[in-house]
Amino acid sequence: MTDVADSPSIRRLSEWDAAELRTLAEEYGSPLYVLDLERVRQNYRRLAAAFPDADVLYAVKANALGDVLSTLHEAGAGLECASAGEVKRALEAGASGSEIHYTAVNPPAGDLDWIVDAWEDHPALTVTAGSVDTIDRLADRGYDGRLCLRVNPGIGAGHHEKVRTGAAAKFGVPAERAVDVLADAADRGFDVVGIHAHVGSGVSSDQLDAHREFVARMGDLARDVAGVVGGLEFVDVGGGFGVPYHEDEEPLALESVADATRDALGAVDARLTIEPGRYVVADAGVLLTEVNTVKDARETTVVGVDAGMTTLIRPAMYDAYHPIRNLTADAAASSGAGERETVPQTVAGPICESGDVFCADRELPVSERGDSLAIGNAGAYGYEMANQYNSRPRPASVVRGDGDVRLARRRETVADVMRPEREARRTSVADRKTDDPRATDSDNDPVR
Ligand code: LLP
Repeated sequence: MTDVADSPSIRRLSEWDAAELRTLAEEYGSPLYVLDLERVRQNYRRLAAAFPDADVLYAVKANALGDVLSTLHEAGAGLECASAGEVKRALEAGASGSEIHYTAVNPPAGDLDWIVDAWEDHPALTVTAGSVDTIDRLADRGYDGRLCLRVNPGIGAGHHEKVRTGAAAKFGVPAERAVDVLADAADRGFDVVGIHAHVGSGVSSDQLDAHREFVARMGDLARDVAGVVGGLEFVDVGGGFGVPYHEDEEPLALESVADATRDALGAVDARLTIEPGRYVVADAGVLLTEVNTVKDARETTVVGVDAGMTTLIRPAMYDAYHPIRNLTADAAASSGAGERETVPQTVAGPICESGDVFCADRELPVSERGDSLAIGNAGAYGYEMANQYNSRPRPASVVRGDGDVRLARRRETVADVMRPEREARRTSVADRKTDDPRATDSDNDPVR
């Protein structure tokens, strides 16, 4: 089988079939997310093979599309969920309670209510709490199930300061208080099963020292906890495995990361758990967008496209680099029409903010109106962070797998954007008629 550990460690944007992508843009419209489920499976299997003695939980937040979750569930992954909504998706994808961890970060009351209800039907679910308040609030709701404690190890790493969580006060109980908190939780009847921390996202090879130090602290803590509270089932060291976004960047050497992780953890009588998100889905997705404007500005050529920071926010939010390819120019070149000259171009979206650019002054083949562009490595934190700013509907997503391509999520319309408002208006008219100002229970259930 070619789709296991020996699959290539990165699929570059240049390796996608330009003709196929252009056909998809024509058929399904633009902008369009395309996700290759086979590549998702390969990435998961490569990780699972590098960490044979670990449990791999896919971090749903990177891409929560139902097809992604069911593909990974079938391949053997567990699912790490950041909200009640993600847990709902995980259950719908076929995961059982024992395959789901819910990581609660300042969880809204509605999430906890829903999770505790779900736990009654799925008692093997694990809840990871990052504060004593969360533990108290779980207890208030009658929860005494599987509890993992998120700790703050005091070390962060990752591609941008906004995603270095390991030392950010927001996350976890300070590691030095963990033993007391866990001992107390065990006394109160919780089933204490693990400790957790997440150093950050997009950790690269040159941050391996920070990763090693972080895992070593988790190993020490696991040994301390075992001495006081008794054995743990798992030590969860989070996700964060980086992928190369630049064309010339080397992929992470997964085997050395796995070796370093095992060495740093040391001897613990608990299973290692990892929670990769980006690594599993980033290079399995591309975003297709169409050029609608080509403008010679004073200092650069601006190429206006129909995707923007509402479609893929990473460049605007983290100054993230994403590779860009002109599919029309590439297809023309491969059909013998000759290569287009390259010039520095600034690819910009339709949103009224100067941050709404995908790249500035990047050398790309000269763009023409109507060209189809592909933005690479868009499978992770792409659609998930899309939004409706400027009343822009979110794009469609297609998936490719088992030899066919199909629509996985339709394009939104402006009517979708306006629906909650229209419904509110309709409801208040109906309420006035019945003289009942209350919303129904189901209106207030955030995870309906
Ligand atoms: N586990 C926990 C508790 C997390 O908070 C995260 C990511 C992960 C696992 C997965 O991390 P990954 O393997 O994907 O690096 N929107 C940002 C990334 C935010 C990550 C948040 N937490 C981006 O687009 O770069």
